[in-house]
Amino acid sequence: MKSTFALLVLHLAGQVFCTPGPGGGMQNSYDFIIVGGGTAGLVLANRLTEDNHTSVLVIEAGNTDLGNLDIEVPFFCAQATPFTSVDWNFTTVPQTNLNGRSLAYPRGFVLGGSSSVNFLAYTRGSEDDWDRFASVTGDQGWSWNQILPFFLRSEKLTPPADGHNTTGEIIPSDHGTSGLVGDSLPGFPTPLDPMVLATTTEDPEFPFNPDVNSGSPLGISWALSTIAAGVRSSSATSYFRPFSTRPNLDLLLNTQVTRVLPSNSGSSTPQFQMVEVAQSSNGPRTQIQANKEIILSAGAVKTPQILLLSGIGPAETLNTMGIPIVLDSPSVGQNLTDQPIVAQSWSVTGNDTFETVERDPAIAAEEFAEWNSTRTGPLTDTLLNQFGWLRVENLTSLFSDPASGPNAPHFELLFINGLILTAVPPTGNFLTISSADVSPTSRGTITLQSSDPFDAPLIDPNFLATDVDFFVMREAMRSAQKFVSNAAWSNYIIAPSFNGTTDDELDAFIRENTIPIFHPVGSAAMSAQNADHGVVDPDLTLKGAKGLRIVDASVFPFIPAAHPQAGVYALAERASDLIKAAWGLS
Ligand SMILES: Cc1cc2nc3c(=O)[nH]c(=O)nc-3n(C[C@H](O)[C@H](O)[C@H](O)COP(=O)(O)OP(=O)(O)OC[C@H]3O[C@@H](n4cnc5c(N)ncnc54)[C@H](O)[C@@H]3O)c2cc1C
Ligand SMILES: *[C@@H]1O[C@H](CO)[C@@H](O)[C@H](O)[C@H]1NC(C)=O
Ligand SMILES: *[C@@H]1O[C@H](CO)[C@@H](O)[C@H](O)[C@H]1NC(C)=O
Ligand SMILES: *[C@@H]1O[C@H](CO)[C@@H](O)[C@H](O)[C@H]1NC(C)=O
Ligand SMILES: *[C@@H]1O[C@H](CO)[C@@H](O)[C@H](O)[C@H]1NC(C)=O
Ligand SMILES: *[C@@H]1O[C@H](CO)[C@@H](O)[C@H](O)[C@H]1NC(C)=O
Ligand SMILES: *[C@@H]1O[C@H](CO)[C@@H](O)[C@H](O)[C@H]1NC(C)=O
Ligand SMILES: *[C@@H]1O[C@H](CO)[C@@H](O)[C@H](O)[C@H]1NC(C)=O
Ligand SMILES: *[C@@H]1O[C@H](CO)[C@@H](O)[C@H](O)[C@H]1NC(C)=O
Repeated sequence: MKSTFALLVLHLAGQVFCTPGPGGGMQNSYDFIIVGGGTAGLVLANRLTEDNHTSVLVIEAGNTDLGNLDIEVPFFCAQATPFTSVDWNFTTVPQTNLNGRSLAYPRGFVLGGSSSVNFLAYTRGSEDDWDRFASVTGDQGWSWNQILPFFLRSEKLTPPADGHNTTGEIIPSDHGTSGLVGDSLPGFPTPLDPMVLATTTEDPEFPFNPDVNSGSPLGISWALSTIAAGVRSSSATSYFRPFSTRPNLDLLLNTQVTRVLPSNSGSSTPQFQMVEVAQSSNGPRTQIQANKEIILSAGAVKTPQILLLSGIGPAETLNTMGIPIVLDSPSVGQNLTDQPIVAQSWSVTGNDTFETVERDPAIAAEEFAEWNSTRTGPLTDTLLNQFGWLRVENLTSLFSDPASGPNAPHFELLFINGLILTAVPPTGNFLTISSADVSPTSRGTITLQSSDPFDAPLIDPNFLATDVDFFVMREAMRSAQKFVSNAAWSNYIIAPSFNGTTDDELDAFIRENTIPIFHPVGSAAMSAQNADHGVVDPDLTLKGAKGLRIVDASVFPFIPAAHPQAGVYALAERASDLIKAAWGLS
């Protein structure tokens, strides 16, 4: 099959944009077609085009990431989404255990995907998370020891924006320095820094951990973020832009893949070869051929939707939607996992908090001018400079351990120098500590709302559906309360905004205030080669089919007890080696 309309390649500012038009330029077929120019997709685009005999097309639904300060300026990360031009604008279905609330569920709709709009935290997770991936897939390649080189290959540790001496804040030898994605420690001090650190010497419940990324994240650590020289480093800025002039790499923006099609329809082992694209629900549909593989990197929400629209999924769901079954794959869209997070705040004596800047446009303008002229100052930080990764003591006397092993946390504490995601009150200054259940046992789903690819899928993270998840959330809130009860905070804390302590009080607060942390995984999970569940094999090829691989956060069979982007970069780096080996590429 051939494209039904020709496509024109425009060269703008050194970057290749392809837009439908009357001319020529784009090919009707490529060796590899990558669906989604997001975090994982652009890693693959880079690595596969290192072999200059190999042609790659990346198809991205969103627009360029260039020229958007909410993307570039680290501190503006909370403004990049939700419900902006670079967001998919999803909301979850009403959450049964959260008083029926529907929650905003941002995903990057832009080159770089969610790496362009996330909150920038760089955490690899625990060695136990990766060793569990190896044991459930039967592939030691996913174990901590074997994935570590891929973390290092993707990472370029850089100095913080203020150039301060980082001795004691990180173990530099555990980091990559010649990879592509830049990361750095906080680039501007906050008044919380000394109090958080003092707590680690006062209270044995909160030990200092010199590096959260060394395999054993438990304790309180400095937060590394994907920032280089004061600016966000995303897959678009690192893996794509410096390489975008490679003649064997084409990018199609503002275009959605609506489904993938096999060349041998009706066969019991479909061979996927074509992607169908469109720019609107009613617009023309065009097919483009992949001579070697189609790689789905549309993320944990859209990848299962594309599979379902293509007739790959649970037979009943497909029948209900009237979509012809190409491959009965019962696990597609199942086992969706995300981490619930809830914020508590305290009024404080200091005035050097987010509120002061938010109330005074002159201070905000000064901070921006500093960032704009020298890429320094408060805007080079994200929302947090330190975080804690902790286990609930004695949890295992009540429940089986939800974490991947003894070195993996149950919950995270995030120390934030002001109120977030809420309207600023006219007076007062605040501290926020958010508590997240990072090893949840609740499982949700991605299903179809309709067979129109331009309709959002139904997203149900099914938060807090288990007793152990509620237990962890309560203890994580109590842990935050305990944290600020230490002497280090006695001159700073005035009063809590929420005074609950009993199980019932905490549960009521959790139901009313919990939101997602936006880390969905598991909706197209990898499993062992002959497992009775799972969507892809350990080499990320679609089970029961040929010509299609999935490389994005949807393949993680469990959620890493971490912020997942570092893991997605490592996953995609290893995937590029697997693909190169399968096709003999250099
Ligand atoms: C607000 C927010 C904050 C976060 N904070 C952090 C953090 O601080 N640290 C951290 O580690 N992680 C964080 N995350 C999560 C992290 O960013 C993601 O886990 C990771 O980026 C996912 O990578 P991916 O490749 O799976 O998907 P994505 O990076 O989302 O890429 C998917 C891409 O596919 C495109 N696409 C989708 N459907 C189609 C289609 N049909 N056709 C063409 N293109 C399509 C999308 O537009 C997107 O560009 C955050 C996420 C969000 C949304
Ligand atoms: C491919 O790369 C090799 C080695 O870098 C180079 O010699 C060759 O000219 C390149 N070929 C093309 C078609 O660019
Ligand atoms: C999300 O909403 C914004 C603002 O209305 C819009 O610009 C953007 O295109 C929307 N995203 C999608 C995927 O439709
Ligand atoms: C950084 O601080 C450490 C410990 O205080 C010290 O040993 C080291 O010399 C300092 N490095 C630089 C470059 O000043
Ligand atoms: C969900 O994941 C669990 C744990 O890996 C597995 O046992 C189960 O079969 C999965 N369910 C589906 C529908 O894939
Ligand atoms: C903050 O407090 C200091 C004194 O600690 C004071 O000098 C300063 O003016 C205050 N700033 C604002 C914006 O209130
Ligand atoms: C930021 O700096 C650039 C020059 O580097 C300038 O053109 C622009 O006007 C500045 N923006 C603001 C809002 O000051
Ligand atoms: C945990 O268990 C130990 C031994 O059973 C007990 O001494 C300790 O008080 C318990 N801790 C908590 C927080 O319940
Ligand atoms: C919480 O308790 C403190 C001290 O007992 C009190 O000052 C404050 O008003 C209470 N806050 C709420 C929200 O009840």
